[in-house]
Amino acid sequence: MTEDEQLRQEAYEQIEKNKNLVDQDPYRLTYHIMPPVGLLNDPNGFIQVNGVFHLYYQWMPFKTDHGAKFWGHYSSEDLVNWRHESIALTPSEWYEKNGCYSGSAIEYKGKIYAFYTGNVKDEQGNRETYQCLAISEDGIHFNKKGPLIYLPEGFTAHFRDPKVWKQEETYFMVIGAQTKDLKGAIALYQSKDLLNWTYRGILVGGGKGELQEFGYMFECPDLFHLDGKDILVFSPQGLETQGMKYQNVYQAGYVIGDFDPKTGEYRHQEFEELDRGFDFYAPQTTIDSKGRRLLFGWMSVPDQHEQDHPTIEYKWIHNMTLPRELKLVSGKVYQVPVDELDQLRCSEVVSHTVKLTKESQELNGIHGKAVELNIQDIEIAEGWMEISISDGGRIIYSADEKVISFERKSYVDGMTEKRQCILSGLKNLRIFIDTSSVEIFINDGLETFTSRIYPSPKNDKITFGASKDASFTALKWDLNVKNVNI
Ligand code: FRU
Repeated sequence: MTEDEQLRQEAYEQIEKNKNLVDQDPYRLTYHIMPPVGLLNDPNGFIQVNGVFHLYYQWMPFKTDHGAKFWGHYSSEDLVNWRHESIALTPSEWYEKNGCYSGSAIEYKGKIYAFYTGNVKDEQGNRETYQCLAISEDGIHFNKKGPLIYLPEGFTAHFRDPKVWKQEETYFMVIGAQTKDLKGAIALYQSKDLLNWTYRGILVGGGKGELQEFGYMFECPDLFHLDGKDILVFSPQGLETQGMKYQNVYQAGYVIGDFDPKTGEYRHQEFEELDRGFDFYAPQTTIDSKGRRLLFGWMSVPDQHEQDHPTIEYKWIHNMTLPRELKLVSGKVYQVPVDELDQLRCSEVVSHTVKLTKESQELNGIHGKAVELNIQDIEIAEGWMEISISDGGRIIYSADEKVISFERKSYVDGMTEKRQCILSGLKNLRIFIDTSSVEIFINDGLETFTSRIYPSPKNDKITFGASKDASFTALKWDLNVKNVNI
């Protein structure tokens, strides 16, 4: 048996071995992408080819911890119903023996070219990094071509996560990096044939430009065109908390700018966080056949109490966000759940013109563990209003302070913890609850809060309250939970 066959067999055995835990698991997600077993992290190689979406993911099948990652694989025709496919990449070769780390995919002559980082680490912790290529005709079986890019001068071996795109007959690649003086940076490469790559220099960071003092490492860069601008999404590490900003261990966000493919220069505005919740990192985008810019994020943050998640007992940890469409509105990147997700809706409950005058009430028929809530035409002039998701989390909007908050019961010590952002007025909320996760889209996607929650398993109450007067229309759908087939 080859090393690759051996690793595949062991991973599949791991899935089989833990199947019996599924029925006992109160935190299992019902309509989100999660690992069949083990740890899932970054979305990788997100692409639509011949009408099929492929979403690969960082996967450690053998434990609920990080390590020598595989590329797992889900596919879908409609972004709603997902099939778990066979393993795309195993860390079987010398140049990737400690992990087929994150990367991206691009279509070339009908084939999928997947670029990823081969991670190598010895016992002393010394690292090597190789940017590798694997080619697939069907999106399922990959033919590894080995390393194409070796570590250039001036960087530490924290050099990874290639994202490739085509612009004016040239292919470009951005790579997350750390310079030798320990500054976060993004390196730029270009190529005519996807095989021979030329280093163009540092795109942002590395002690220069607006992002010169901005943490010690930039992970998972993604540069793309959106509504006339070039958006650079990346995940910086090492930012200090500033008021309501940068509250998580690491961040994920974007800058809006203009990329000049001739000079390789990128001028941009200030960094903005993409999400305000507890669990959002390493997002990746693709463009689909309708021209939409779609994003998946990892619903977690590295090194943020990962070993305390209650799902570990059931031999899995972490999941993806829902697929979101990006829009650029008045200088802000909005995130909206893709329209296709409406297909998940089954029974509908509508509560017209709810007037809240007291601190906690239930609304007829509005409860559940796998639901979408749509709160529209919100009117609140003073005081605060809140929505509680059983005993797992609470959304509070203060009209007096113009602040929206999400609070949850910490899974580490049971204490209440909070994330917040400024919001000059609350118009609407779309809330997707899925057992142990919640995604909140505020004012048509202007702000989002993405978080894991661990409510008491039997509690599916949703309650509403206000300190003074608040009114709105509430719609609730139970969601069809048979869409992700592991
Ligand atoms: C981000 C990240 C990437 C790396 C991958 C390894 O979460 O650290 O930089 O490629 O995870 O799993």
